[in-house]
Amino acid sequence: MEPNPVIITHPLVQHKLTLMRRKQTSTGEFRLLLRELSPLMLYEATRDLPMAMQRISTPMEEIDAPLLSGKKLCFVPVLRAGLGMLDGMLELVPAARVGHVGLYRDPVTLDAIEYYIKVPEDIGERLVIVLDPMLATGHSASAALDRLKAQGARTIRFISLVAAPRGIALLREEHPDVIMYTAAVDRELNEHAYILPGLGDAGDRLFGTK
Ligand code: URA
Repeated sequence: MEPNPVIITHPLVQHKLTLMRRKQTSTGEFRLLLRELSPLMLYEATRDLPMAMQRISTPMEEIDAPLLSGKKLCFVPVLRAGLGMLDGMLELVPAARVGHVGLYRDPVTLDAIEYYIKVPEDIGERLVIVLDPMLATGHSASAALDRLKAQGARTIRFISLVAAPRGIALLREEHPDVIMYTAAVDRELNEHAYILPGLGDAGDRLFGTK
């Protein structure tokens, strides 16, 4: 059985992640690194996509050659840090559709409240790849997956850059059908639910809001 999460150990991914973790990395560098990392992560997360042979003609002769034959893709960045992964993904699969989901945590009830969701109508026929760089408690990721399933998503993968054991455990329990991909499983969360050692607040570092 496939491990869940799948840990992406490719040296380029690990090198770029280390550069992103460093606190002296600027907003511009952080953004570029996340963009560069994203297609490398997608490459690994699509290794097992089904293929079918098709008869084609090269300028020289006819051959049977492999083409993707499974579901078409839909990327869903979780707002806002997930946006930093989107452009790199679209470079690799330009025809993919894109959905968006935004959630915030109610400060009193601590429930994840949806403030925005828009997905393609045919999301149920697509392989949905959810993008969120930091899987911390897993609450917002799990809530995003609930919302996407309610919209009809049936086949989902989840790509993060850094995951905490707690978030992984929650998604395994609440969404065992979703395969997770991550470049690192870090030690723990602090009292503010930041990942340690982590890389700080991915949204702030990406958009320079702090
Ligand atoms: N979100 C972040 O951006 N960073 C963390 O460490 C945890 C959640």
